[in-house]
Amino acid sequence: MSGAPKGLYIKTYGCQMNVYDSERMRDVLKPLGYAPVNAPEAADLVVLNTCHIREKATEKTFSELGKLKRMKEAGGGRMRIAVAGCVAQAEGDEILRRQPAVDLVVGPQSYHRLPEMIARIARETGDRLETDFAAEEKFDALPARASDGPSAFISVQEGCDKFCTFCVVPYTRGAEFSRAADAIAAEARQLARQGVKEIVLIGQNVNAWHGAPPSGDAGRGWGLGQLIRHIARIGGVERVRYTTSHPLDMDDDLIATHAEVDQLAPFLHLPVQSGSDRILKAMNRRHSAAEYLRIIEQVRAARPDIALASDFIVGFPGESERDFEATLDLVREVRFSQAYAFKYSRRPGTPAAGMDLQVDEAVKEERLARLLDLLQRQAQTFNDATVGRRLPVLFTRAGKHSDQALGYSPYMQPVHVDNGAGLIGRIAEAEIVAATMSSLTGRIVKESGTAADAASEAVA
Ligand code: 5AD
Ligand code: SF4
Repeated sequence: MSGAPKGLYIKTYGCQMNVYDSERMRDVLKPLGYAPVNAPEAADLVVLNTCHIREKATEKTFSELGKLKRMKEAGGGRMRIAVAGCVAQAEGDEILRRQPAVDLVVGPQSYHRLPEMIARIARETGDRLETDFAAEEKFDALPARASDGPSAFISVQEGCDKFCTFCVVPYTRGAEFSRAADAIAAEARQLARQGVKEIVLIGQNVNAWHGAPPSGDAGRGWGLGQLIRHIARIGGVERVRYTTSHPLDMDDDLIATHAEVDQLAPFLHLPVQSGSDRILKAMNRRHSAAEYLRIIEQVRAARPDIALASDFIVGFPGESERDFEATLDLVREVRFSQAYAFKYSRRPGTPAAGMDLQVDEAVKEERLARLLDLLQRQAQTFNDATVGRRLPVLFTRAGKHSDQALGYSPYMQPVHVDNGAGLIGRIAEAEIVAATMSSLTGRIVKESGTAADAASEAVA
């Protein structure tokens, strides 16, 4: 099947789901002879895997396409340009109309069809747009998984039925869909056999995952906690994480998993968006600030050293200074290790876009700065508290300086060490010697270390 080698350049925007999809597109295109190249100029096929979540992310698609058009012309028109991801899903027709240099548009649930689409454009026949929603069909059609490092994402859940009033995801990614436990475990085993040490289970609402137990395992339907236990039993899997979660799906069994499974990283990304009940209601989050705090309390009871991360939106329509202060109060109460904070971005077609009392840009800026200041101080405090500790670090890649390696602590803190080039792909124990608000510096004390070491140290 495979012809002469062809250059493939995929540029990925947005969330982890897009990172996963880009990897899978590489797997899909490999049998056609496509191999990754380092620059779009050298590529026969450029794929933009786009993000639609905020206005800025969407605008990037169109400015990037302008640049690619010029590159395509400079190369005599040989380059093929594909637009994938959530902007493709939401604005596929518009993209083809506005940017004739684009050869094809493929949505997040249709990229398994890339080979036939490429064949079609070569013949200059048929549709250049595929944006069907059948997630199940996609997973069945994808080829075996190839790893490109010691940590790998596995998509276990896609789509969202929550309909937060600010968010486009339910429209771009469709309804919630859970992959079968058997298929997920098979992908995890393929990866573990290739030397992958960390499996990150991902989904737009990953903790909404549910499914039948794998064949042969009797009992009722499974939730994410049981899936995590199952994955953690696969030989070679030393760490498991999951992201991103919704408070409503944080069930008791998943919380208990944090107490029971040594390989499960003591890290939870649980977006709250706001600390004001009035705003949470207008956002259709369907929980109060107190309910969120109660979940945090339960999670901390299960795993006292857990690192907590969140997402926040400032300047949602109608947000008053008092509402915003309630968000600051919630942040002070929880003490996060990391967080993302965004200014509310009005997304066409979502309920919040039509709400009265849109907040001034200047007010959004000012609130964002105050929130970030608090979150950054909390991140620094969290990181400072790990100085002097010995932590198992999973080294994933080379650092900026020669012989430096970069890895992640169990709490998802980036850790840099010197003399570490030989450690990439492994877990080694580092003593933390310095901290900034965004990363740690470590010194290797033991060239092997496991997740279980961290757990036993945490309770010591
Ligand atoms: N404006 C600003 N931030 C948004 N997010 C989602 N939609 C919007 C929007 N319209 C943020 C939320 C979500 C994260 C992925 O992006 O905080 O958790
Ligand atoms: Fe968007 Fe809310 Fe669904 Fe998250 S839970 S993807 S914020 S609609």
